[in-house]
Amino acid sequence: MTDNYAGRTFGQGQPFGTRETATDSSTAAATPYQPPIRPAAPPPSYQPPQPAAEPVATAQPAPAPAAAPLAAPAPQPAPQSFASAARTQAEPVGVQQAQRSHQAAGGGLHKIGTVVEIAGSGSQVSLDAALINALVEHHDPSIAMAGQVGSQIKIRVGNVWLLANIRTQRLDLTDTKTIIAQVDFLGEGDEERLTGKIYNFRRGVTRYPVPGSEVFAVSSTDLKQVYAADGRASVNIGTVFPTRDIRGSLYVDAMLGKHFALLGSTGTGKSTSAALILHKICDMAPEGHIVMIDPHGEYSAAFKGNGALYDVNNLAMPYWLMNFAEHCEVFVTSSGDERQADCDILAKCLLQARSKNRLAESIGKLTVDAPIPYLLSDLTTIIQNEMGKLDKATNTAPFMRLKGKIEELKADPRYSFMFSGMLVGDTMSDFLGKIFRLPSNGKPISIIDVSGVPSDITSTVVAVLSRLVFDYAIWSRNEPQRPILLVCEEAHRYIPSDRVAGDSAVRTILERIAKEGRKYGVSLGLITQRPSDLAEGVLSQCGTIISMRLNNDRDQAYVRAAMPEGARGFLDSIPALRNRECIICGEGVSIPIRVALDTLEEEKRPASEDPLFSVLWQETGGEEELLERVVRRWRAQGR
Ligand SMILES: Nc1ncnc2c1ncn2[C@@H]1O[C@H](COP(=O)(O)OP(=O)(O)O)[C@@H](O)[C@H]1O
Ligand SMILES: [Mg+2]
Repeated sequence: MTDNYAGRTFGQGQPFGTRETATDSSTAAATPYQPPIRPAAPPPSYQPPQPAAEPVATAQPAPAPAAAPLAAPAPQPAPQSFASAARTQAEPVGVQQAQRSHQAAGGGLHKIGTVVEIAGSGSQVSLDAALINALVEHHDPSIAMAGQVGSQIKIRVGNVWLLANIRTQRLDLTDTKTIIAQVDFLGEGDEERLTGKIYNFRRGVTRYPVPGSEVFAVSSTDLKQVYAADGRASVNIGTVFPTRDIRGSLYVDAMLGKHFALLGSTGTGKSTSAALILHKICDMAPEGHIVMIDPHGEYSAAFKGNGALYDVNNLAMPYWLMNFAEHCEVFVTSSGDERQADCDILAKCLLQARSKNRLAESIGKLTVDAPIPYLLSDLTTIIQNEMGKLDKATNTAPFMRLKGKIEELKADPRYSFMFSGMLVGDTMSDFLGKIFRLPSNGKPISIIDVSGVPSDITSTVVAVLSRLVFDYAIWSRNEPQRPILLVCEEAHRYIPSDRVAGDSAVRTILERIAKEGRKYGVSLGLITQRPSDLAEGVLSQCGTIISMRLNNDRDQAYVRAAMPEGARGFLDSIPALRNRECIICGEGVSIPIRVALDTLEEEKRPASEDPLFSVLWQETGGEEELLERVVRRWRAQGR
């Protein structure tokens, strides 16, 4: 498996757009970030299997010219002459059609092959190596990469252009000048009668071409039409590969309506891309409702201008918002049979404590999950009383354990953001309002930095926050709808696969949101560097997948399984993507695209976790005071 990707570094070491900027500086100047231009040398998959060339040539009866190396420009007619040849031929229908096509392609229709087979399992085209090679130097980068794995081709069926993606390539062993490529159809667009342009591009194919149909290179002009915003709300995030100026955009409603995942190995630019996308969405929707769970405290820096920032110092999340399962995660310390006994006692005492609140009187049948405030001291007193009711022979250890743990949490300053005595008032509406941005007051995103939360309860805190989002959506069904986007960094920690961890409250709720959230207007954005560690099935619940480079085979395999058919040709480029380049497929885009993301302004970037050793190790001075301050905070267990 690894070998497949070994050495697949095409594009990596190449300077941006060297070849193209030389020939066309006008458009190049317009885009700050140059998409990497595929160098003339094609990816390994493009090259004919080295050993095959010779044996095939000798094994076949008389393929005399077949041994000619594929890379050498064969004495074929230049592809540009195809269109002009067509023009001078059949009159007058041929003239019209060829001219129309000529314009459609922005100045030339470049034939590169022929349809061989149309089949449900995968259609095949044959590509003429010489025609493709003749295009390699073309000034339009889309045409220059014609025929490569991951690039698009177009085929005319009547007045409709079909667009397909090249998934695989292999040498035709009977004719080494021909490459057989598997393609996936992406969709179709109408041919505009006057200009010949593709318009009204849509997914899916209504009529397939017949074998023998001509296959053409797709130009940047074509792609511009395909990617042209079709009136749906969208955000522009970067430049479509391999073009220099076509903007890649995400359809916001389609992307958020069916969840999305942002994947990529560490350092590929996930966090920055997440910030970029969320900034664009916030700009578009200043009255939006986004909750970002930030385990590393990176995002406050990025959203200081337009976000409500919370951490342990100002989150003030009342403990009584926890449901029973979450209470158990925090208050119950035992395991096995003992754990069950402790939970039973907690359930009984917690219900009593909650029912002491005046609010409980108005509720017919109070449940242990209801977010009714109660006093921690009431709970410990009730536990104490229950223990007193026991006869001598009964084991008091479960009561002692519970009481001990609750008292410990109350006393420990690290837990005060949640268990402080100040949090007993009925602040539920205020709390929901502040974290869900209801109203958003121009700050549509709340960043919840959980990096300061003691690690033993982080996952419960994330569970409570996530569940509040979901429960809010359920209990507000009869109200004006305020859909909420919940973004979860390091998602593999919270929705781990069975292989990695067992059940937890956070996994249960996030899996539930992944499965049912869309029905209630809850959208989930999962960010992770380890898609293979995500719980089974979660990735396939994500309608849009944004994948940056993934270095690990296992992760690649998981993403491959979750991606739709049409994107398969792109998958092979996942290990070869540059930093901040990504592949996007699914609901959020009209067809799968490879995008070089825009540069995000410095003040909108998340705080990078990586220290610059080379710089920091030049600095010195003030160490004594520094250590004193650190030790003081350390002892006080506060920031
Ligand atoms: N779109 C971008 N604009 C500007 N800088 C970027 C962009 N994408 C990535 N970077 C830079 O790349 C580095 C790694 O990005 P980061 O988002 O922290 O990666 P990850 O979250 O995948 O580990 C950061 O220093 C960041 O500034
Ligand atoms: Mg990151």
